[in-house]
Amino acid sequence: MIKKLASCIGKYKKETILTPIFVGIECSFDVIIPFLMAYLIDYGINASNSKIIIIFGILLVICSFLAIFTGVKSGDYAAKATSGFAKNLRKRIYYNVQDFSFSNIDKFSTSSIVTRHTTDINNVQLAFQMIIRMAVRAPLMIIFSLIMAFVINIKLALIFLVAVPLLGLGLYLIATKAHPIFERAIKIYDKLNNTVEENVRGIRVVKSFVTEEKEIEKFNETSEKIYKEFSKAERIVALNNPLMQFTVATIIVLISWFGGKEIVLGNLTTGEFTSLISYTIQILMSLMMLSMVLVTIMISRASGERIVELMDEKSDLVSKKNAIKDVKDGSIEFDNVNFSYVNDENKLCLKDINLSIKSGQTIGIIGGTGSSKSTIVQLIPRLYDVTSGSVKVGGIDVRDYDIKSLRDQVSMVLQKNELFSGTIKENLRWGNENATDEEMIQACKLAQADEFIRDFQDGYDTFIEQGGTNVSGGQKQRLCIARALLKKPKILILDDSTSAVDTKTDSLIRKAFAESIPDTTKIIIAQRISSVQDADKIVVMDNGKIDGIGTHEELLKNNEIYRDVYESQVKGGKE
Ligand SMILES: Nc1ncnc2c1ncn2[C@@H]1O[C@H](COP(=O)(O)OP(=O)(O)OP(=O)(O)O)[C@@H](O)[C@H]1O
Ligand SMILES: [Mg+2]
Repeated sequence: MIKKLASCIGKYKKETILTPIFVGIECSFDVIIPFLMAYLIDYGINASNSKIIIIFGILLVICSFLAIFTGVKSGDYAAKATSGFAKNLRKRIYYNVQDFSFSNIDKFSTSSIVTRHTTDINNVQLAFQMIIRMAVRAPLMIIFSLIMAFVINIKLALIFLVAVPLLGLGLYLIATKAHPIFERAIKIYDKLNNTVEENVRGIRVVKSFVTEEKEIEKFNETSEKIYKEFSKAERIVALNNPLMQFTVATIIVLISWFGGKEIVLGNLTTGEFTSLISYTIQILMSLMMLSMVLVTIMISRASGERIVELMDEKSDLVSKKNAIKDVKDGSIEFDNVNFSYVNDENKLCLKDINLSIKSGQTIGIIGGTGSSKSTIVQLIPRLYDVTSGSVKVGGIDVRDYDIKSLRDQVSMVLQKNELFSGTIKENLRWGNENATDEEMIQACKLAQADEFIRDFQDGYDTFIEQGGTNVSGGQKQRLCIARALLKKPKILILDDSTSAVDTKTDSLIRKAFAESIPDTTKIIIAQRISSVQDADKIVVMDNGKIDGIGTHEELLKNNEIYRDVYESQVKGGKE
């Protein structure tokens, strides 16, 4: 894991190396200062030697300045290194997520992907900063200070030799106990983010169903869980403090006690005594720092693992080497296709599908909710791969195509479609970034969107809010259709894309398609029989299987499900 994370340091290697070097220099000055101080007291002040006082006074000032300078420099480098590292991490996982297939996304859930981009990276960034600064400074300070203490007085320094490892062991035990709890807490973060994201996204639904209280309850529950886990972990971590305080007090008492005796005996000067106390404090502060670093590393280890998981996730849909880039025509062939979202032969969502569509045909698909209408068409632009069997476009297995080339030719208006924040023009250009204004207007005319766009005050420059909340459902659908048309695809799939459009506009759209893009294969999934009855072929789906294929007239005669739906809709009134 560490190797993978470290590879994201990238061009910030220089800063990452310079930080600990400067920290090291800073440390040596910090250690020299008490030593100079001892000299100044013993041979300057106590001996009333003004020359030594001046020389060592100046030396002390220079050393302090240098310590401050190197401290600032190391902070500066650390800031660059850590934010650069976080930037690279974020980039790396963001790019990888862009390659994810639908099933990769199903696996992680959107909110977990977001948490990994934010909270988890922040944790790792903090740990990284601590590693290149504090984790270098603390042990160096401990070692330097110990050496100096030994140089001054071996007997007294032995006190450290007993106390430091004991304290170290205590801190280690605390940190290892806290780690699994932090790991659990971070997982609950995912859930919290999920609740928040879902609620904020669906705030209109929540409001209209007046389920705010239930949502608040759900949120509180998760919040409470995080609170409990974190407080459990923090309680363990909080043991650090009393342990430290106790050790500090004991060591100071011991040093004062034995130190006092040594001074009386003449084995220790007062200057040496003061510097020993300074070293004691430095050692203990460093130990405290080390324990903080340890805890942060523990917390971020869980985060680091989650980031690497996202980095390592390989998209399960990749283009082959020497993949075919040219889609010959819009013919489609399903050959004994079975499909399961979880790759399990016992949980098939599509069973034994055989279907042949000629280029340029219009195909209607009809069936109850959950009958796998969306599932069957998602296999054509290879949003998912078949579990067994094959799907061919233009006579070639979709898995043999370069994915981008295939998807450029198979344009799909998803059932759950999205507009992005930006102007109408910008949204349309998602379909084809090089589209001219004329092409855009032409596509919008076909999708019966041109008219209402012109009615907007800013026309094609009207700003669409995130998620398309400031256009009506039917307008959004028509914009999505226009966007798909701009690709000039060989196959156009509309998954329930005119459900919010009135029947008259719906039929105008179909008429425009028949006249203007006759060579494009059109697949129309719909709830209304009227949307598909003119199709060359209508497929009736039932529970993951094809229940019947034929024209409107044929199906009315032979297919029970189709006849039922038709009759219910005709009797239902205007349809
Ligand atoms: N991403 C997914 N992961 C797992 N199962 C899924 C996924 N998407 C759909 N399913 C399941 O596959 C089955 C078919 O769903 P599908 O969306 O194809 O139905 P549909 O015919 O399009 O329904 P509707 O008319 O409501 O759009 C359902 O049982 C559904 O629960
Ligand atoms: Mg569907």
